Amino acid sequence: MPKLFGANRPLLDKLSHSLGLPIGNAEFGSFPDGERMVRILEEVHGTTVILLQSAGPAIDSNILELAFLADAARRAGAKKILAIIPYFGYARSERLAASGSPIAARFIAEIFALAGISGLVTLDLHASAIVGFFNLPVEEVSAMPVFAEFYSKASLADYLVLSPDAGGIRRAGQFASKVGLPLGVAIKHRLTPTTPRIIELCATVENRRVILCDDIISTGGTLAEVAKLAYQHGAKSVEAVATHAVFAPGALERIKEAGIQRITVTDSLEPQTPGIEIISIAEAIALALKKLLPETND
Ligand code: R5P
Repeated sequence: MPKLFGANRPLLDKLSHSLGLPIGNAEFGSFPDGERMVRILEEVHGTTVILLQSAGPAIDSNILELAFLADAARRAGAKKILAIIPYFGYARSERLAASGSPIAARFIAEIFALAGISGLVTLDLHASAIVGFFNLPVEEVSAMPVFAEFYSKASLADYLVLSPDAGGIRRAGQFASKVGLPLGVAIKHRLTPTTPRIIELCATVENRRVILCDDIISTGGTLAEVAKLAYQHGAKSVEAVATHAVFAPGALERIKEAGIQRITVTDSLEPQTPGIEIISIAEAIALALKKLLPETND
């Protein structure tokens, strides 16, 4: 029977429950010099192993932990190695942004394939083109139906959905159409990686309640800048939904200072941030994973 392995216990437990599959015994830790250590502590020969790891902070270390776990499973004779990577770190480096830069997302994809992963499930990739970096089946799940379901319980008169940049229009549009709200977009330019500058809102937000819809909250700068501009243009309130709660230091303070009143995220990263609402994407991920599982129960 396929078994799940991973160190992210709350999400692993939910997935185990949704899939009806057991969690395998493994050890996770690090050596005194900081090198990462993983060990599969049971027989996986001839079976399917499912590895769960989000590539969030500490990003490089978590990517290596997943690759090491896959390598360990391969060396122990696992028949098939599937990975669930709810947050795919480095997804924002999916193109040659400037000469002299790497395409980090592509390189990470090669690391996972080299480690023996033969299929994966991920969630709201920053750019879906990343699927094409893999020569193996990739199921990309969207958190938008989950957010829409959450908001469908609220009265949404005078609300509007706003994508904080042009790249997020498709995602925000999916959310807006599912909750039956109009969609606007902000035009964003980045001055530096940590300094977004919003130059224009393509939406009338006066006397509207705004829901910002994004894939990632990292520094919180993007949401904060759009929120400030929305208030300057007469918005009554601003709240936000975002799939991946990366939350770099200072992000929550930045978002609160900008007047964002409610923040809803998924458990792709198990955020420890107080005062935000967390919706689980375990069910959606489990459904996608079932498509990759072998017909036979090994
Ligand atoms: C950028 O294109 C993404 O969709 C997010 O808007 C961005 O990564 C958020 O980062 P931060 O919170 O640092 O502004």
